Amino acid sequence: MDVSVIGAGYVGLVTAACLADVGNVVMCVDIDSKKIERLKQGEIPIHEPGLDRLVERNAAAGRLRFSTSHDDAVAHATLIFIAVGTPSEKDGSADLSHVIACARELGRRIERDSLIVVKSTVPVGTNDQVRAAVRTELNACGRAAFVTTASNPEFLKEGFAVEDFMKPDRIIIGVDDLQSAETLRQLYAPFNRNRDRLIVMDVRSAEFTKYAANCMLAVRISFMNEMANLADRVGVDIEHVRRGIGSDPRIGPHFLYAGAGFGGSCFPKDLRALEHTAKTNNEPAEMLTAAMQVNARQRRIVASKIIRFFDGTLSGRTVALWGLSFKANTDDMREAPSLAVIEELTALGATVRAYDPVALENARSIIGNNKRVELVSSADAAIEQADVLAVMTEWLEFRSPDFERLKHTLKSGAVFDGRNLYDPAAVRAAGLQYFGVGRG
Ligand SMILES: NC(=O)c1ccc[n+]([C@@H]2O[C@H](COP(=O)([O-])OP(=O)(O)OC[C@H]3O[C@@H](n4cnc5c(N)ncnc54)[C@H](O)[C@@H]3O)[C@@H](O)[C@H]2O)c1
Repeated sequence: MDVSVIGAGYVGLVTAACLADVGNVVMCVDIDSKKIERLKQGEIPIHEPGLDRLVERNAAAGRLRFSTSHDDAVAHATLIFIAVGTPSEKDGSADLSHVIACARELGRRIERDSLIVVKSTVPVGTNDQVRAAVRTELNACGRAAFVTTASNPEFLKEGFAVEDFMKPDRIIIGVDDLQSAETLRQLYAPFNRNRDRLIVMDVRSAEFTKYAANCMLAVRISFMNEMANLADRVGVDIEHVRRGIGSDPRIGPHFLYAGAGFGGSCFPKDLRALEHTAKTNNEPAEMLTAAMQVNARQRRIVASKIIRFFDGTLSGRTVALWGLSFKANTDDMREAPSLAVIEELTALGATVRAYDPVALENARSIIGNNKRVELVSSADAAIEQADVLAVMTEWLEFRSPDFERLKHTLKSGAVFDGRNLYDPAAVRAAGLQYFGVGRG
């Protein structure tokens, strides 16, 4: 099929590349001309494992094209995905300006009957707004093209985005008409072979399903973090508890890891947006509010432990920090817990020597002006001259450090394990002090 994808970010680019890889011809459009130029040169603007080969292969085959022009999107296909950002407004609601701007751009150009599929995470009712915006523009231009919309929220995880798209657990399709469902069933057929992963529902339920999924996961993490903080008080190791409860099939083992809080481009903003939806509908959203409150505290937990370790005096201290991205396998720094820790420690006069395998460039654009932060190019360079080590991201290369070396390098001999990566006994056996999250 011919498909256009608007937005070449973490979701749009992966969607475009994966759809091209199964034989579709895809036009990927973004208003960021630098991004599109880089893509045309074969450069991938984000770190996403496997995406470079996919883009290279499909661009070379002519199945994946890039443009900054909505004209090209509309001329290329009558099946058009919107995958642009929906960040938070000040009041917590989802900022739909990019989505609606896209709808208008398309409405001004569409001449053939088309299906617009909203892949961005959007509040209930947004598809109606998209359809209305398109129709207003069509009417203004005096065109009679028939445009329908469908909701197809994306569930990929950054760091595993290609794999998740190629082998989805489920494909949620929200439609108001059978024809749109059939078109999307055909498009997704290559990803839907060994069992039917398509779940077809009405548009509003599909829009809501995405928020409910992310909020459920965020609530689970905050629940475990609350348990971990209590575990710390009562001398319990939350890692034993995690294994104990995760073995219950009603609970399951995923998303039960306590740590330094969640971040990223989705959970925080989606919690805020759903809470806002609840507020505007006069419904309480106590679970969502609590999940956010717990997380706000948790993002500071590593900094709090370090501050306590130094009795509140951080001036002249250097903290080595391993991991800046909000989780492993991505360079995404949006709302990363590392930022909260850096802000708090440097405000108290500490110097932070930080390293991340792929997020240094993005980090520089956010914290490059902070004179107390040194971004360094290796884990070893981060610990040089440092008093203590804080681990903020669960990158593989941090999983099995040489504790003897850490003991000889860290001046104050302490490891703050914000992701519970280490066996406390092994760290202590090397003569280091160990501080995890909820390790008793
Ligand atoms: N990142 C994830 O892991 C993830 C997972 C599932 C769903 N989502 C959702 O998908 C959506 C996109 O997220 P993302 O992380 O890919 O965002 P992103 O910020 O990485 O990419 C968005 C892109 O859209 C472009 N854009 C904005 N307005 C445009 C317009 N009018 N025309 C063309 N391009 C335009 C931007 O330049 C940017 O490149 C969001 O709603 C997000 O909540 C994200």
